[in-house]
Amino acid sequence: LRGRSLSVTSLSGLPQWEVEELPIEDVLLFEVAWEVTNKVGGIYTVIQTKAKTTADEWGDNYFLIGPYFEHNMKTQVEQCEPVNDTVRRAMDSMNKHGCQVHFGRWLIEGSPYVVLFDIGYSAWNLDRWKGDLWEACSVGIPYHDREANDMLIFGSLTAWFLKEVTDNADGKHVIAQFHEWQAGTGLILSRARKLPIATIFTTHATLLGRYLCAANIDFYNHLDKFNIDKEAGERQIYHRYCMERASVHCAHVFTTVSEITAIEAEHMLKRKPDVVTPNGLNVKKFSAVHEFQNLHAMYKARIQDFVRGHFYGHLDFDLEKTLFLFIAGRYEFSNKGADIFLEALSRLNFLLRVHKSDVTVVVFFIMPAKTNNFNVETLKGQAVRKQLWDIAHSVKEKFGKKLYDALLRGEIPDMDNILDRDDVTIMKRAIFSTQRQSLPPVTTHNMIDDSTDPILSTIRRIGLFNSRTDRVKVILHPEFLSSTSPLLPMDYEEFVRGCHLGVFPSYYEPWGYTPAECTVMGIPSVTTNLSGFGCFMQEHVADPTAYGIYIVDRRFRSPDDSCNQLTQFLYGFCKQSRRQRIIQRNRTERLSDLLDWRYLGRYYQHARYLTLSRAFPDKFHMEPTSPPTTEGFKYPRPSSVPPSPSGSQVSSPQSSDVEDEEDDERYNEEEEAERDRLNIKSPFSLGRVPRGKKKLHGEYKN
Ligand code: UDP
Ligand code: G6P
Ligand code: GLC
Repeated sequence: LRGRSLSVTSLSGLPQWEVEELPIEDVLLFEVAWEVTNKVGGIYTVIQTKAKTTADEWGDNYFLIGPYFEHNMKTQVEQCEPVNDTVRRAMDSMNKHGCQVHFGRWLIEGSPYVVLFDIGYSAWNLDRWKGDLWEACSVGIPYHDREANDMLIFGSLTAWFLKEVTDNADGKHVIAQFHEWQAGTGLILSRARKLPIATIFTTHATLLGRYLCAANIDFYNHLDKFNIDKEAGERQIYHRYCMERASVHCAHVFTTVSEITAIEAEHMLKRKPDVVTPNGLNVKKFSAVHEFQNLHAMYKARIQDFVRGHFYGHLDFDLEKTLFLFIAGRYEFSNKGADIFLEALSRLNFLLRVHKSDVTVVVFFIMPAKTNNFNVETLKGQAVRKQLWDIAHSVKEKFGKKLYDALLRGEIPDMDNILDRDDVTIMKRAIFSTQRQSLPPVTTHNMIDDSTDPILSTIRRIGLFNSRTDRVKVILHPEFLSSTSPLLPMDYEEFVRGCHLGVFPSYYEPWGYTPAECTVMGIPSVTTNLSGFGCFMQEHVADPTAYGIYIVDRRFRSPDDSCNQLTQFLYGFCKQSRRQRIIQRNRTERLSDLLDWRYLGRYYQHARYLTLSRAFPDKFHMEPTSPPTTEGFKYPRPSSVPPSPSGSQVSSPQSSDVEDEEDDERYNEEEEAERDRLNIKSPFSLGRVPRGKKKLHGEYKN
């Protein structure tokens, strides 16, 4: 196993890279996370999108470990028997001893194997396992913290499983990568029991970071000043914090998702991460280059339909001049920047009104909160729209038939009489039914905490009530999107494609998948220099704004200045013409390769090799090389953008008159030509890192 070969990988224009090739057939790789087959937030996206690249590399030696939930199993997993003897024996042994371990293939791209533990079924062991954890690291978990207790059961089952695996490993080496504190107990117990495994702990946030930021504390300027034990104690998360910190310090290799979280981890968890593993996506390229533009037009039409219903009776704005903006994610009001977004929308509303802009902005907040289902007014809106559609359709049929008959008789029909009195009456009644006593609702659901909900309270304070004079309209959809929704039947990806701009002005965001997902779909987005993604783009793209990545400075400016900057971004975006938006979308999409796991997966590869060399130094040798870095690598400014940075922004109002489709296509083609020119000039496609050269420092700076 000592010998390792080196290979070089590359991806269209990005720098080539050397990776250490592991003798995969002699190593089993387990990745443990609470979000395996279980969607909560971004960690699910990490695991799910990375599965293909990892499964391609590791084949049948790759296994994901997660919790068993009946619904998830039924809808996402195809049950099967493990082919791998080691895993089968480990499962058999646990099942024989009163556990319920499920196995199958997760039906996602790459169809990786999953091992799922039924937590409830093993809950009767809880007290004994609390004792084990106490013995291992003197951490006690209070009775009332249900989530932490579940994590202990999950961790105990994981450690048990890994013990069985190593007992039956037949000389194979084992790597186990644990994501976030929820999976960490498995790591702590495995290490306390001295299992012969190489471990990695990956954190996607720190508990304290998330809590402190949510409490509106000036976090980044006080990173080194917090009394962390006290802060954790006061927030009643001391035991969770201990589980997190113990996991970090037990791991052979500690990783996190961005440089900014690496700094945070050093202060909050007292260990500098060994490797930063930026999050990627499973980027799919369409065979037709402009397919994503067509999809935008197609899904925008679906959103327009919803808006027609929602604003019935108030549709005095032109949908062709209406922009759809959205923010989405777990409902963390200030961490996700919903607070400054609302404030900026209020300012944008003012600007659009005083400048008498003919643009209307409809903003969606997709953030799950407690609700009592859809509200009547919202459902009625869609029913009214459908009724109008049906009436228009039936009148059209009648009209068409009469017209056809007249033409057959060789006559031009008398247009005044082509519709009879009944038709007119029906139409008048339909128009009357669109009258409403109230304004179009600002939320689609009955909110349980309506009076204290932070988004609704802010809307009340700033007075954005969807009145006719408002140029900015808001709709809170307090539930994740789904294609089976009776109200807005679209899945999240379709919805994003149909929008014009994603706005994610987060204060606390270790990575932030939402703007990254926008980017690979060719939809511009707003992010911040406090999000892992925003910093990553700032580092690797010479002029992010020109590529449709607007980075709000929330690090070095006051909240009010950040809000003004955000307002300017939004206002500038509203002033763009359709052509400019099309060109901008083309540029945004061009950044996809940078976010592809086929490129970013190398950091995970590095972490795996590093942990093997630390856990089994006699078998796996690693020279003290620095982790992979993309430092010095930058996407150049698009060639059509004027040299000054301000030139990349729209400086004067442009007419957003509807250009005809031909025009759009022409611009698509022109942009395509620009892309070709760029590719020819790009140092990334001409220059290649010579084989054997490892560091990329400074070589490709543009
Ligand atoms: N998301 C979703 N449906 C929605 C809104 C969001 O599936 O209606 C997903 C989105 O695709 C993203 C994840 O939720 O992958 C949020 O991840 P992010 O890293 O932005 O934030 P986190 O919730 O992990 O803090
Ligand atoms: C895509 C389509 C065009 C359409 C345009 C609308 O580019 O290919 O046919 O006109 O989207 O763009 P907009 O930014 O106005 O939604
Ligand atoms: C966490 C972070 C988010 C990140 C995700 C995946 O939930 O809040 O910023 O994108 O993990 O790493």
